[in-house]
Amino acid sequence: MKLVILTGAGISAESGLGTFRDAGGLWEKYPIEQVATPEGFAADPALVHEFYNARRANCLTSAPNAAHDALARLEGTLGNDMLIVTQNVDDLHERAGSRSVWHMHGALNRAKCAVCDHSWNAPAKMHPDDPCPDCNTAATRPDVVWFGEMPYFMEDIYDRLHRADLFVSIGTSGNVYPAAGFVQEAAAAGARTLELNLEPSLGASSFDESRNGPASQIVPEWVDSLLRG
Ligand code: APR
Repeated sequence: MKLVILTGAGISAESGLGTFRDAGGLWEKYPIEQVATPEGFAADPALVHEFYNARRANCLTSAPNAAHDALARLEGTLGNDMLIVTQNVDDLHERAGSRSVWHMHGALNRAKCAVCDHSWNAPAKMHPDDPCPDCNTAATRPDVVWFGEMPYFMEDIYDRLHRADLFVSIGTSGNVYPAAGFVQEAAAAGARTLELNLEPSLGASSFDESRNGPASQIVPEWVDSLLRG
């Protein structure tokens, strides 16, 4: 069975990492345009680095929860027939043992050069005047996809969605495209679709089935039911 799973901030909420649009979420504290757009970075790179340095530190002190662990367990059975496409920039899927994880919005633990596009493992803290290890220009940035930028792996993601038997969306509000449109892509190609989220997302009605509750509870329950066959 070919499975594509999309995850969002909700799967990492119980690991202590903030979501974006829940009460008290990140976008209430930091204006998106200041910390998650190329224009914001150009205007105040120090503020943007401060924002991602704080999220990187928060990520280091967090741990995968039972939902991440359950998906790693499922991959142990399904192997290469399973793919996780995550909107998250944390590395909790990898730390839980998942191997096939595509970060469509980039990753906190990666850095890149805004001039030569070289990318490398990010240090714990980044600063505007850090030189690029390759071209030496002081133009380093988090390797995170900002609003207005093209997400990674899109062609390959659509290819996997079109070949999936099952598409499962976990912990995402369905606010942001192109991820919010994946359910339609998968359904149009004949996949069954399931949403696992704390509450019905904006796109809940597009799914064949929608189960609500905390990810650390409903994801392991779903994985166990799948593995029982
Ligand atoms: N268990 C399951 N779902 C949860 C939990 C939980 N414990 N806590 C919150 N949720 C759900 C919320 O109900 C919400 O639907 O997770 C979702 C989080 O939604 P957002 O905060 O919008 O996060 P996400 O959907 O990942 O945002 C997508 O937007 O800002 C950009 O690039 C950013 O990748 C992000 C993208």
